[in-house]
Amino acid sequence: MTKLKVGMIGGGGGFFGKVHQRAISLDATREVVAGALHQDPALSAKFADEWGVKGYTDYKTMIADWKAGTLELDYVTIVTPNFLHAEQALACINAGLPVLCEKPMCYTVAEAEALKKAVKANKKVPFALSHTYTGHPLMMLARELIKQGKIGTIRKIETYYNQGWLATLAEKTGNQQASWRTDPKKSGISGCGGDIGTHALINALWTTGLGLKSVSALLTAIPGRKLDDDFNVFGKLSNGGTLVLLASQIAIGHKNDNGFRIYGETGSLEWFQENAEELHYYDGTTRVTYFQNAPTGEVPDVLKSYGRIPSGHHEDFLEALANLHTTLERKIRAIKGEKNVPPAYDHPGVDEGVLGMKFLKAAVESSKKKGAWIKL
Ligand SMILES: NC(=O)c1ccc[n+]([C@@H]2O[C@H](COP(=O)([O-])OP(=O)(O)OC[C@H]3O[C@@H](n4cnc5c(N)ncnc54)[C@H](O)[C@@H]3O)[C@@H](O)[C@H]2O)c1
Repeated sequence: MTKLKVGMIGGGGGFFGKVHQRAISLDATREVVAGALHQDPALSAKFADEWGVKGYTDYKTMIADWKAGTLELDYVTIVTPNFLHAEQALACINAGLPVLCEKPMCYTVAEAEALKKAVKANKKVPFALSHTYTGHPLMMLARELIKQGKIGTIRKIETYYNQGWLATLAEKTGNQQASWRTDPKKSGISGCGGDIGTHALINALWTTGLGLKSVSALLTAIPGRKLDDDFNVFGKLSNGGTLVLLASQIAIGHKNDNGFRIYGETGSLEWFQENAEELHYYDGTTRVTYFQNAPTGEVPDVLKSYGRIPSGHHEDFLEALANLHTTLERKIRAIKGEKNVPPAYDHPGVDEGVLGMKFLKAAVESSKKKGAWIKL
């Protein structure tokens, strides 16, 4: 089996590009071979040299080389600030290159709709959206248990993501990640909501299979900041149930405190990413803990194929991100006609990206109107 060859856009000298590079190479079935890793051509060349990949001064030249047959690529990973995603993803999809794109999917709802149109028109060019937490096998198991009817009709979801790293004006101290995330021109109409609120949303809705009808929101920011850093939303779910979504980047002491509690008519499920290898089920008298990679009759085969090592030897964030690459890899290999490709799990894609962007637009509008209920 030959390794899939991956091109990267962004990531040089930044945070998440290196994380993707590690996740891509984790299974030795994929490798980053090329990249337009930085907006400054000299730095792009420098980082490409450090990574041992073919460097490009811009992503358009990388795509052109692939088109001309002078560069082999199977897909592209986009790890740039949010305002660049749509243009870069559209160029790849329209050229015929599959994409794993970072979240939030883009900058506006209009961009999201345009991307959706392109992805739907190019059925043999898969598009994946990097909601990392959905790659955790136990979040996937929660989704399967809900499909099996384990907790009955869902009445309420509490989903949260709390961080404390923006409790002070970090953007004024040269923090690269803070500076573009708090800049409306680069981040989008919502800061905290776009950055981590969308994770909390997709964790909840992807896992339950429910939609969102309307929201009432309260968004705030510390003095001197242009975008929200605290993002609180009530939502009406498509089945009439209630969503409570809390995301914050001023929650001092909290790192990546995200998870959910899902309450159904016959039971509840609870998952927390800082202890991601356990999923708790409650039926009112007993509590059952599912452990990652521990065999039970309720774990479908497709999920087993996403585990790497026996239960108790820890798998975590990198493996979850790698699982999103695995899903895309399986789709690409199946389209190529390779034999014995395991089935790809149904991870988030362009539809979840559109949902995330509509959610942000409605939440921002609601907050501006003092919490008025806004339809998505
Ligand atoms: N899925 C997750 O769990 C997760 C975690 C962290 C970040 N992210 C997402 O990843 C993306 C990047 O975030 P980050 O924290 O790594 O930011 P970062 O600032 O650390 O990195 C951004 C990178 O993009 C590069 N870049 C900027 N403009 C470019 C251009 N025109 N061409 C090429 N490269 C360019 C920068 O040089 C830098 O390397 C964001 O969309 C963010 O929301 C997702």
